Amino acid sequence: MMNLTDNERDLLKNTWELFKEEPDNGRAILERLVEKYPKYVKWFPEKDMDKLTKMHVKSFTKVINFIDTNKKMYDKQVDKIIRKHKKEDVKIDMFDDFSEVLIEVLKEKIHPDDLTDEAIAAWRKLCQIIIVHVGPGL
Ligand code: HEM
Repeated sequence: MMNLTDNERDLLKNTWELFKEEPDNGRAILERLVEKYPKYVKWFPEKDMDKLTKMHVKSFTKVINFIDTNKKMYDKQVDKIIRKHKKEDVKIDMFDDFSEVLIEVLKEKIHPDDLTDEAIAAWRKLCQIIIVHVGPGL
């Protein structure tokens, strides 16, 4: 369960590239999170959306690029995620909400021919892995 297959990693890389082609897509994740769960406005206020979007898109890009292939860089990214969110009082169950909204927005923005059921399953698995790795630190 805890490792991605090469195929799953390819699915994640390819779908994330498609998602990132449209610059507003990243922002849509944070906006949807706040819309669906208004308590998150405390962490994602409108005025900081650009900066926060860039941070989160970049973080996912790094996680996808390094997971299972570059342990040093992956661990460094996990440590950063823990450190930043501890400081912001983000709890690990909030990562469940983030994952749910992330996958919801991916489904809306990427054509189903590209975001196949297999790709969606790879995204669910990635989110679970992140939660398992970050959780004990938060
Ligand atoms: C509901 C869940 C989340 C909330 C409320 C949240 C909130 C935040 C906030 C407020 C910051 C800014 C901290 C600062 O300015 O120092 C931040 C930074 C960051 N977040 Fe999140 N986040 C969430 C989920 C995630 C997830 C799922 C990831 C990646 C897997 C992530 C990765 C990062 C990283 C790496 C930074 C630091 C970026 C940098 O300083 O360069 N966050 N997050």
